[in-house]
Amino acid sequence: MPETSAVYPGSFDPITNGHVDIIERGLEVFDRVVVAVLKNPKKRPLFTTKERVRMIQEIFASKREVEVRAFDGLLVDFARAQGTRVVIRGLRAVSDFEYEFQMALMNRSLAPDIETFFMMPSVAYTFLSSNVVREVAGLGGSVEGLVPAPVLRKLRSKITGSKKVQIP
Ligand code: PNS
Repeated sequence: MPETSAVYPGSFDPITNGHVDIIERGLEVFDRVVVAVLKNPKKRPLFTTKERVRMIQEIFASKREVEVRAFDGLLVDFARAQGTRVVIRGLRAVSDFEYEFQMALMNRSLAPDIETFFMMPSVAYTFLSSNVVREVAGLGGSVEGLVPAPVLRKLRSKITGSKKVQIP
């Protein structure tokens, strides 16, 4: 059987346990998941592209079926260049739907051969987002259990170093 693959795109600033959950669910369905890290999210990212890519690589170091790449330009062009026709997106709640619906249909209008697959994370992560993690960590709150260990370490060094705020 030919190998099946999918692209999982996002800003991942930083990757959370909710994202990790979606990648693991993706691996149950596809042979290969390419995590596509957007190079220049609209808002100034907390982590550089290199840092975001490295953290995800570290988290999935033991899984050869997870590849991590930075991308810019159109997602559908990147997906084609990776030889895949599937885009995975996570849906946490109804509030995500409008944005995701718009993006999926825009991508379909650009590339009708590319399909978006929506996957729901574990209910434990439905409240979780990179924005919430950045805000809580920046204000000194604990995000333990919400982000993988490499992210926790990096948040500690980045935020403690720049703003003299302690993250428990
Ligand atoms: O984690 P995010 O910020 O919700 O991810 C958004 C992302 C990276 C999936 C989206 O911004 C994207 O695909 N950007 C690439 C540009 C593109 O293809 N735009 C057309 C789709 S609207």
